Amino acid sequence: MAGTEPSFFVRHDFLIRRLHSLTGIIFGGYVCVHLLVNASILDGARAFQNNVHAIHALGPILPLVEWTFIFLPILFHAFVGLAIIADMVPNNRNYPYEANWRYTLQRISGLYLFFFIIWHVFQMHGWFHFEWWLEIAHRWGGAQFSPYNAASTVGVALQNLLVAFLYALGVIAAAFHFFNGIWTAGITWGVWTRPQAQTRALYVCLAGSVLLAGVGLGALWGAREIGATPESVAAAQKIEDEMYQNKVDAGLIPPDEHKRSHHRSPGEGPALSAEPVSSPAPTTESGE
Ligand code: HEM
Ligand code: HEM
Repeated sequence: MAGTEPSFFVRHDFLIRRLHSLTGIIFGGYVCVHLLVNASILDGARAFQNNVHAIHALGPILPLVEWTFIFLPILFHAFVGLAIIADMVPNNRNYPYEANWRYTLQRISGLYLFFFIIWHVFQMHGWFHFEWWLEIAHRWGGAQFSPYNAASTVGVALQNLLVAFLYALGVIAAAFHFFNGIWTAGITWGVWTRPQAQTRALYVCLAGSVLLAGVGLGALWGAREIGATPESVAAAQKIEDEMYQNKVDAGLIPPDEHKRSHHRSPGEGPALSAEPVSSPAPTTESGE
């Protein structure tokens, strides 16, 4: 009888919950690696560039890795997460933490992360890499990250104080949401069932979230240091351009001007002309 038919979410509640949990854990694993790699910027432009080269050395399998561990999990997790927040998925689990501040913060941080991730991926990556789209993305402040000029482009992209503040919030929200999520996932999957074990796990998870937030905020701070002045940007670019040339000469990476910041003329796109750095000093080592 049509009128009383339970909704799709209600009929498949168990499976959807498990997949939501699993995709949250997979994406959280990516975020940990992502923030650790970003924090290597604290060690200077060379260390960060080395890590980015290592990731891009995956070449044609990179999109496969990205879709498996990043895009598909977060799309599913975000979609179901929003349905849970909107109360479309029944809340019949009776978690012991229900109605307390962590329960509320899990939802608020999930909501913030939804908007943050959409904006962040646009700002750095540009969402898509079709030529015609990149033109538009650059005009709207997107696609600022150039993988072969990693530290200098990230550094400039994070100079604006409001941007830095929104990133700090994003990092803190992700750290809390992931580790509080790990704790509830432990209940979902029956890893910690007794109250004492749950309390112990909660302390470990809270410590984990503080640690991950520290790593992410360190990355933010390190990036802002590199992008702070035209001189620091130019110094980072010089290192990156040398590394690019050496790796291309050694056949370790394919030459690709699209992955470099200066394939755009200075001032044309926002990448190296964003406030407060007006435009980078010309690099002497560049292959162009
Ligand atoms: C993109 C926006 C996101 C939304 C809308 C969202 C939403 C949610 C919601 C509502 C819950 C609680 C589920 C419940 O109480 O039954 C949750 C749990 C969780 N989230 Fe997210 N989330 C998002 C992003 C993330 C991110 C970025 C991560 C990883 C860093 C993540 C990892 C987790 C984990 C591990 C859980 C625990 C699942 C469980 O209890 O079994 N989520 N998410
Ligand atoms: C200091 C903080 C952060 C910095 C410096 C940073 C930097 C970057 C950069 C440079 C990219 C572009 C990578 C590329 O196009 O190859 C990127 C992509 C991305 N970031 Fe972040 N990020 C930060 C925090 C976060 C957080 C907190 C999350 C999630 C909660 C996140 C999720 C993502 C995702 C999903 C992508 C797209 C992945 C891809 O393009 O392969 N980031 N980030």
